Amino acid sequence: MTDSERTARRSRLVGGLRPADTGTVVRLAGWVHRRRDLGGLIFVDIRDRSGLAQICFGPAWTETPGFRLAQELGAEDVIAVEGDISLRPAHARNPELPTGEIEVRARTLERLSRAETPAIPVARGPSEELPAEELRLRHRHLDLRRPELQRNLILRHRLALATRRYFDGLGFLEIETPMLTKRTPEGARDYLVPSRIHRGEFYALPQSPQLYKQILMVAGLDRYFQIARCFRDEDLRADRQPEFTQIDVEASFIDTDDIIRWVEGLMVSLTQEAGLNVAEPPFPRITYRDAMARYGSDRPDLRYGLEIHDWTDLLRTLEFEILRAAVAAGGSIRGIVISGGAGASRRTIDALGETAKAAGAPGLLWVKRGPDGASGPLARVLTAGVLDALGLRDGDLALVVAAADRLSATALGAVRLAAITGLGLPPLRTDAWVWIVEFPLFEDADGALAATNHPFTAPWPADLDRLESDPLSVRSLAYDVVYNGAELGGGSLRIHEPELQRRVLRVLGLSDREIEQKFGFLLEALASGAPPHGGIALGLDRIAMHFAGAGSLRDVIAFPKTTAARALFEGAPTPVSAQELEELHLRPAAREREVEAV
Ligand code: AMO
Repeated sequence: MTDSERTARRSRLVGGLRPADTGTVVRLAGWVHRRRDLGGLIFVDIRDRSGLAQICFGPAWTETPGFRLAQELGAEDVIAVEGDISLRPAHARNPELPTGEIEVRARTLERLSRAETPAIPVARGPSEELPAEELRLRHRHLDLRRPELQRNLILRHRLALATRRYFDGLGFLEIETPMLTKRTPEGARDYLVPSRIHRGEFYALPQSPQLYKQILMVAGLDRYFQIARCFRDEDLRADRQPEFTQIDVEASFIDTDDIIRWVEGLMVSLTQEAGLNVAEPPFPRITYRDAMARYGSDRPDLRYGLEIHDWTDLLRTLEFEILRAAVAAGGSIRGIVISGGAGASRRTIDALGETAKAAGAPGLLWVKRGPDGASGPLARVLTAGVLDALGLRDGDLALVVAAADRLSATALGAVRLAAITGLGLPPLRTDAWVWIVEFPLFEDADGALAATNHPFTAPWPADLDRLESDPLSVRSLAYDVVYNGAELGGGSLRIHEPELQRRVLRVLGLSDREIEQKFGFLLEALASGAPPHGGIALGLDRIAMHFAGAGSLRDVIAFPKTTAARALFEGAPTPVSAQELEELHLRPAAREREVEAV
């Protein structure tokens, strides 16, 4: 064995023991996973990072102090064992376990540490439920002993390593950018760090290394990447953490196709590394506009068909008030056909109606077609001819939303996903990669203009003349990569001319003074001879989560925060003393209770 397993206290890890090792003597060290006491025979499952193996204390031991120690061992005690690898008797082999054909017949046993009764069990039967997540996060040191979580962290490590190899192979340099930074707008709130030395001034933790990587391009470093920690104070969900990791990339003298080709190549490497179906470039590209119209989402899950159709022209003249009113108000009528969906229960359809409403639609209309005709709210106005025109066959269900144009699409997008789950619809393929391109440069944020991506994204050249006159119609040179309905990454070609950068910032409502204050350093850099450049950032946590088949980012991050942005194990955030606040020139908020020094 090499040093990858051997240490002063053990000869190897337990998970790789196999029948071919029979007859060798090993020294193992690890945790007591389970212990079974059969009187004259004690079995202990020893666990380390690599897996489990069975240790057997047999009849020759019964009178020895070692046997008494084996009898006393508790779950999660740490032990060291020396023993002989032996084949298990045929009836005792465990095909479920990679080491299930052998056992280690103990020669010596030492307890290196005792464990108190664990607050949450580590050894779990296949049908046993996990303890509540809050409890597991509170006792993360025990939760992290779970093989599933260890596997996830190992996968994450391998993905990060493969990423470094991949970009290194393409001549990219990994360059670290600062954590104490000037604010970079990525659409979230900043985590601010007060300066002790500069009264009343704050650093921001980076929402992304965006501006630094652009400046590295201006500096001539040509190809940059970084596995970069980012911080965003935003509403959290299963796929969002306040602190997360990006595979951040930027390169000079490129076009969109370069980034797309590089990222597709990376995904081939990473899917290979994860042992998944290997990604197959080129991934299809869909414009934002098409994605919204056909799937009601800018991250469509293309494992499923179920396209949204615009039925406004087909249905506008029907004697159905809801449809007429929507069209009269300038809206649209859109629908999806679920082939074989006529078996859906009323309850299931009602639940889909709730999904439509939660997405902002007034409601969900539907019709089922069967051998005896149509049924459902729309049945009375839909002739067989119209049903044919909608593409509805016997046994099909159509779901319809009549609402403002965009809303009818986004609400149906939500209904589409809920129907896939609710009706258990089978996927057409197991993996679906897609690029979304031609995003709008700006979006309407409660009446004000906001950058869809960030304000450094280059406008679509042909739309430039509408930048000031009709900004919402301007497309951008941005792209997102989507995997099975999840946005894994996004980026763009950047503005490299200072004057255009100023124009975009002005359209966003910044005064010239604000522009200088906030982005003067960027403009100065752009004015110094900036190469055309662009890049992308991919969410490493998200990639690891999807590739591990985990349901939450918390399952692929060693020490994640809760959705309330708390670290439960170590307990953060914490109050600080009045004295520390004073040093930072901060005054406690008025309603803050007095806190002890911590
Ligand atoms: P963007 O904001 O789209 O782009 O982020 C890129 C990717 O980072 C991941 N991500 C997150 N993962 C976990 N928790 C979060 N809170 C979170 N927010 C984002 C997602 C996302 O696709 N500077 C630009 C990139 C560029 O233009 O090059 C940026 O940060 O997977």
